[in-house]
Amino acid sequence: MRIRFKRKKASAFVLVATVAALLTARANSEIWVNKAHFTVDGSAIRPVEWRQWVHVGTRYKPIGLNILDQKLTKTPEILNAYVEPSALAAFQRTGRWPEGAQIIKEFSAIRVGPGCDPMTFVCHSRFGDGIYESGYMGLGYMVKDSARFPNQPGHWGYFSFGHRPPPYLPVARPTTTCISCHIRLASNTDYVISAAHLGLASPGR
Ligand code: HEC
Repeated sequence: MRIRFKRKKASAFVLVATVAALLTARANSEIWVNKAHFTVDGSAIRPVEWRQWVHVGTRYKPIGLNILDQKLTKTPEILNAYVEPSALAAFQRTGRWPEGAQIIKEFSAIRVGPGCDPMTFVCHSRFGDGIYESGYMGLGYMVKDSARFPNQPGHWGYFSFGHRPPPYLPVARPTTTCISCHIRLASNTDYVISAAHLGLASPGR
């Protein structure tokens, strides 16, 4: 009786130890993330199908300077942020951005003119009143790569594929104009302005 009880205890211990070992192995295992592509001269190649990445939030920005070309926009713009899914999975799991993470911010213009209020930009339409996107208008890109950007805060590289309708530029050189705001606004969240995106504000929830 006693021996049987001891055996049971021992096997329970083995089970607990195995589960603990497996969990530790998982936590320590290399986080696998889809990688960005670069040309030999270090330009970023525009990702494909980023609209199939995870959409983490939208911002409506009134007429003002666009960060991609520092020029005044013709209409307010809608800013949509997309995160490459394997990077987002790692971020959700660990709360940290993994090596190789890619984030896109795409801009779109909104409808103006006949039927639209020139102050609020609300348009009457057969679909109902609303502010409607009228066309894609630019692409910004961030990539975390410690080998390529060893001296950049958080090892993020920043790229602009143009402030214009598609087709966007196929490749882009790293820009230096981007980092200042990301340092000012998000040095405590690895330079990603997570608090501005619903889908990033509370990892894991
Ligand atoms: C004037 C300040 C400012 C500058 C300059 C700036 N950004 Fe940002 N960026 C923001 C803010 C604020 C957000 C979060 C809200 C939003 O999406 O607009 C953001 C968000 C982003 C995001 C989504 C991930 C994140 O960090 O929230 C990307 C990608 C991005 N910016 C790329 C760029 C690129 C590329 C450039 C340069 C071409 C650039 N940014 C320059 C202020 C700036």
